[in-house]
Amino acid sequence: MSDRKKLFIKTYGCQMNVYDSERMAETLGGSGYDTTEDAASADMILLNTCHIREKAAEKIYSELGRLKVHKDANPNLKIAVAGCVAQAEGEEIVRRQPAVDLVVGPQSYHRLPEMEEKIREGKRALDTDFPEEDKFEHMPKRPKAARGPTAFLTVQEGCDKFCAFCVVPYTRGAEVSRPVDRILTEARDLVERGVREITLLGQNVNAYHGQGPNGDMTLDQLIWALNDVDGLERIRFTTSHPNDMTDALIAAHGECEKLMPYLHLPVQSGSDKILKRMNRNHTAESYLKVIERIRAARPDILLSGDFIVGFPEETEADFEATMELVRQVRYGQAYSFKYSSRPGTPAAERPLVDQAEADDRLQRLQGLLSSQQYEIQDEMVGKEVSVLFEREGRLEGQMVGKSEYLHAVHVTAPNAKRGDIARVKITNTERNSLGGTLLT
Ligand code: 5AD
Ligand code: SF4
Repeated sequence: MSDRKKLFIKTYGCQMNVYDSERMAETLGGSGYDTTEDAASADMILLNTCHIREKAAEKIYSELGRLKVHKDANPNLKIAVAGCVAQAEGEEIVRRQPAVDLVVGPQSYHRLPEMEEKIREGKRALDTDFPEEDKFEHMPKRPKAARGPTAFLTVQEGCDKFCAFCVVPYTRGAEVSRPVDRILTEARDLVERGVREITLLGQNVNAYHGQGPNGDMTLDQLIWALNDVDGLERIRFTTSHPNDMTDALIAAHGECEKLMPYLHLPVQSGSDKILKRMNRNHTAESYLKVIERIRAARPDILLSGDFIVGFPEETEADFEATMELVRQVRYGQAYSFKYSSRPGTPAAERPLVDQAEADDRLQRLQGLLSSQQYEIQDEMVGKEVSVLFEREGRLEGQMVGKSEYLHAVHVTAPNAKRGDIARVKITNTERNSLGGTLLT
């Protein structure tokens, strides 16, 4: 019988957490763990948590309460908490839920093997430092197992922008960029294992400034270097800040063949007063100028954004400015949230706006954003796109993949396989996907 143990990871939050979970699974692979989809049979359950909006910590505590019941039945079960709640709460987690064996912050994942040894001996392990060493360098390489056609690759982590509502600068720490050679090595390795599309991740990815062979390189330079990786077909990046959209990065959207025509560029609000109070360091007008430049470089680009409504001091007029900005931009995709106060951030000290009013604004904004999404989907009908197939669909012979614009597309393609890229004509739209037929 194998003495390998089973690891169940539950991932909350952003794409960077998805990437981190993969890397933690690989690291713990070296400590004798294989991942499982079945929590009930796991030897270790790891929650990779998110702290970006309210109630995150409370949700984790109630999940941990449920896991404690599992552990009462199976005392050998190890419970681990990683991610931004781990960073923010630290020791408080074990104080509130003594069944937890391990607490690890996002900057300490390379220390997991030692921590795992410690808990195996029945001790508790806690690490929420911001160590000097580069965690990625100290995490084992991804094993050579085959994998799906798309992957995330973290190139930059942390943020120095300190938007007044945001916990990221506190949970992920200061902005750090990974060196170019490591990123290229990881990208080539992913391609060898079947990856065709890489999404470069960073909380402030377009502020990337990693060490290159002749000094620091910027994100556009990194993208051009990745453009030369044989077998890699598509490059994306997220999330960007409007103030770091340089001319060279904008130009790359028009010139770099593998860079996909999709850009997630959060604005948060369309009111200059609120943007100032958010410490965003840009105005609605400067954001619109950036959009104009991007559209000049790549007219068909699909834009996506993040919005917060009900930020302290937001009036109906401020909200209307956000609606007006949305009408001007026309987003193909968007994420919108009601402001939630995060302890330790500057805005947490400020009085909340009327919550019924904030709920109502969120509904109105989401109504507008959805109507734009559907309009843009409708406009795709009759157009030709390229689809990278990611998985089989529910119907016989059907494949599902993403277009350049990140629309999910269903196609009848009985001879196609995952990882193929096909030319497709869009024939119809559903709520959150498109349908199309193969072009030969
Ligand atoms: N309240 C609501 N939304 C928030 N976001 C970040 N912090 C908060 C908060 N305190 C949103 C922002 C950000 C996205 C990842 O989450 O829109 O761009
Ligand atoms: Fe948070 Fe993004 Fe602002 Fe950084 S730029 S503080 S990650 S919202």
